[in-house]
Amino acid sequence: SMIVLLGPPGAGKGTQGEKLETELGYVRLSTGDMLREAVRNGTELGKKAKTYMDAGGLVPNEVIINLMKEKIQSLGKVPGIIFDGFPRTVEQAEALDSELNIDLALNFDVADEVLVSRLTQRRSCPNPSCNAVYHLTNNPPKKEGVCDKCGSELYQRDDDKEETVKKRLDTYHKNTEPLIGYYEKAGKLVTICGIGDIDGIFSKVKEALQ
Ligand code: AP5
Ligand code: ZN
Repeated sequence: SMIVLLGPPGAGKGTQGEKLETELGYVRLSTGDMLREAVRNGTELGKKAKTYMDAGGLVPNEVIINLMKEKIQSLGKVPGIIFDGFPRTVEQAEALDSELNIDLALNFDVADEVLVSRLTQRRSCPNPSCNAVYHLTNNPPKKEGVCDKCGSELYQRDDDKEETVKKRLDTYHKNTEPLIGYYEKAGKLVTICGIGDIDGIFSKVKEALQ
């Protein structure tokens, strides 16, 4: 199946998407991870994207839509795709609908106050084939500063500073929240409370997939 993960920054899209990927063997496509890799590699895409990301805004639709079209077409036959961080605007959602048929949009509902503390305490794995995420208190790695899965040294994302987090939340409410209505109208929306124990939320995710 084709699944879209919706929700504000820090709602747990990456955390839950990673578990789904492991359990179902689906391919997870995270535009955020792709963009960060491009920035790290200093590609044209990375240079273009960095300013928008650092400002907590959105990379232009045209850039993202072209990137995702290429990705989808390069995949071949897979059991399913989890879209994480895409679509983020109605224009992106329409472009995605013209490529393939989305079965389900899972919306993680979390209040802004909770998100700020989650993001400022997040630590991420820089390994592009891993991209695991941790939290200093809620989900710490077994060994401080080191990824459990691949042994890479964890880092703090540039955009996880409090000031930028607040801008990302504004951007979410203005541009991305309207997608809740978009998928509701299409009869594809399931909203899950994203607060509580990570494994408990994952059980609800699996229920929604049945
Ligand atoms: P992106 O990387 O997509 O960032 P985001 O949407 O802001 O999402 P996050 O990765 O911050 O949060 P998440 O929901 O995955 O939460 P996570 O699981 O990590 O995008 C970055 C930037 O790239 C954007 O700002 C934009 O500029 C650009 N961009 C990307 N896609 C774009 C697009 N389509 N169009 C235009 N521009 C685009 O969890 C967060 C923390 O909370 C972690 O520390 C985690 O351990 C912890 N946690 C998770 N679940 C729980 C729980 N249940 N209880 C307690 N803690 C928890
Ligand atoms: Zn890792």
